[in-house]
Amino acid sequence: MTAETRERLAAFAREHMGEKRFRHTEGVAAEALRLGSIYLPDELDALETAAWLHDISKDLDHNAQLQYCTRFDIILDKYQKRAPGVLHAITGADTAERALPDLVDRNVKSAIRYHTTGRENMTVFESVIYLADYIEPGRRHESCRELRRYFYGDAGKKDKREHLADTMIMSFDMTVRYLTETGALIDADTVSARNWFIMIRDEKRFDEFEEKLNEKQ
Ligand SMILES: [Fe+2]
Repeated sequence: MTAETRERLAAFAREHMGEKRFRHTEGVAAEALRLGSIYLPDELDALETAAWLHDISKDLDHNAQLQYCTRFDIILDKYQKRAPGVLHAITGADTAERALPDLVDRNVKSAIRYHTTGRENMTVFESVIYLADYIEPGRRHESCRELRRYFYGDAGKKDKREHLADTMIMSFDMTVRYLTETGALIDADTVSARNWFIMIRDEKRFDEFEEKLNEKQ
């Protein structure tokens, strides 16, 4: 990525968030490049773009998220309407595409859209952004540390696609545990994502996982 593009993305991110979230975003960009160099070395620019933009709407409050969706005719189901964590991914993907259409292709947009929940048939590209958000070095929560240790501790000991699938399953397990412990809604995409990764892992269908890179726009 050129220094000019990076500066443009960083400036856009800085405009849309406070200092703490900006530092997290810088961490996700760095982590996306680390994970990308393992899994998608030809997609580093697009991965870095998605990382810079993934939380672009997170500083909007819940009402503003809902208003955004009304304004731009984004249809939400009754559970999504009640889940600010999910809403910021939906509005963020739309905001990024509208504001920076020359940088946001289908992969970037869907990685932002699914960076919180995951989804069935998740691409490696989406998984890298999801995981970078979870384990970037600024994350101090014990579950993030545990997932980071697991990913980097065991990396290289087995098929890297299997290791990514195992790491994704572990993250969904921790997320579901947290959501049930706090009485929060569990997005249906998270359940589907966990089930899908378990199936892929158990049936060793890693090609299906690896080959799937969305068509570019
Ligand atoms: Fe994030």
